[in-house]
Amino acid sequence: MTVRIVVGAQFGDEAKGKITDFLAADARYVVRTGGGPNAGHSIHLPEGAFVLHQLACGVLRHGVTGVSGPGMVVQPIAFEEEMRELERKGLLRGEVLVSDRAHVLLPVHEIEDAWEDELRARKRPGAGIGTTRRGIGPAYADRAGRWGLRMGDLARPSVLRERLELLYATKTHLSNLPAIDELASRLTEVAGRLAPLIRPTEPVLWEAVARGENVLLEGAQSALLDIDFGTYPFVTSSHPTSAGALVGSGIPPTEVDEVIGVAKAYSTRVGSGPFPTEDSGEMGQYLQRVGGERGATTGRPRRCGWLDLVMLRYAARLNGFTSLAITKVDVLGGLDEIPVCVQYVMPDGTTLRDVLPSQADDLDKAQPVYERLPGWPELHERAKERIRREGAHSLPSTLRRFLARIVEETGVGVEYVGFGPAREDTVRLEPTGLRGSGAGLSAWNG
Ligand code: IMP
Repeated sequence: MTVRIVVGAQFGDEAKGKITDFLAADARYVVRTGGGPNAGHSIHLPEGAFVLHQLACGVLRHGVTGVSGPGMVVQPIAFEEEMRELERKGLLRGEVLVSDRAHVLLPVHEIEDAWEDELRARKRPGAGIGTTRRGIGPAYADRAGRWGLRMGDLARPSVLRERLELLYATKTHLSNLPAIDELASRLTEVAGRLAPLIRPTEPVLWEAVARGENVLLEGAQSALLDIDFGTYPFVTSSHPTSAGALVGSGIPPTEVDEVIGVAKAYSTRVGSGPFPTEDSGEMGQYLQRVGGERGATTGRPRRCGWLDLVMLRYAARLNGFTSLAITKVDVLGGLDEIPVCVQYVMPDGTTLRDVLPSQADDLDKAQPVYERLPGWPELHERAKERIRREGAHSLPSTLRRFLARIVEETGVGVEYVGFGPAREDTVRLEPTGLRGSGAGLSAWNG
């Protein structure tokens, strides 16, 4: 039995969906633990490419139950559409469950999200967060303010109406809200259809763990977008860390066996906020083009830059990574050398190696110091085929050196490498291959 957590180690879009899908092969439950329709987990199957927004990746596999957990904010109408779309394509192979404790994301939240981000940008240039405009911040704010509606409320028409009226009383600053009557009846209709899937999910997971089944907690967004530990205020409104995965599922920390951090071999960010290793020149455009770096949810081009080991060390400490999955190494294939940031120099001359300034303005001023590692050849189809057939020994030696450098700098072993978008383009390194010095904060002393 293994309880594993998969979380993003950068700014999101590290191909967590692909790694989760790979690991879901031996899972009984896959649980989305936070966020909502702001997430876009892309999966490339022989049948085509699909983006999951609110369903856990496990639903694509027979014998797996995909749970949309209590830490999520669920947009029920879009949720049902996502399910139906997968059904139509014959891809809804696992079961679906939704926590009755998950909060409901409503049209009013989407309207408020746009209103707030426009207000920020109007009041102070550069203050706009560039949210996905899916209503995430306002939905979590209403959860914390105790104005929210939960998925379990949808099946009780009188409670639903009462809570909607209360919530609308807090939104007098917004216009063009859908009428309560119409919204309530639409939600009741959807709730009727989703009712068999909505239930307390934490006992289901506790029993699975007790039976010795494998449970995979699938984080959305990433460490640097964490509301407390990310680049506040340019963050999302949940906790996309390993700790957040526990709160977002109801699994206790004592049951967790592995925490897998997913990082791209370079860095990207969508939306505003500090990004010390951003390359706004030709190479940034190159990474964007070759890596297909566009937001899976909004289609916005992603800002691109180099691997930031200061951030990765920070994310490793914060999450307690037991291993790393390094993805999209194929995108860097063919470059002569690959810059990786090993420390920051701050305006006062001090250097930072594994902590980040808590103020976004300070992080904005950090100057990255790069080490240039030798590149590896382009991974053409034949090279990829060889890796699929023969495993990690066939990774180019310079790529292995790049991975070894990540291990040296973070103390965390690299266990998985993603070398293309397809399901079979993930290779597991031999346990003896690139092992780290050990998880736990004691590894950081000295
Ligand atoms: P929100 O989560 O929609 O409120 O957006 C807040 C910030 O997080 C914005 O910069 C978004 O671009 C970013 N963000 C939210 N979800 C994702 C994601 O799944 N991948 C990458 N960035 C995201």
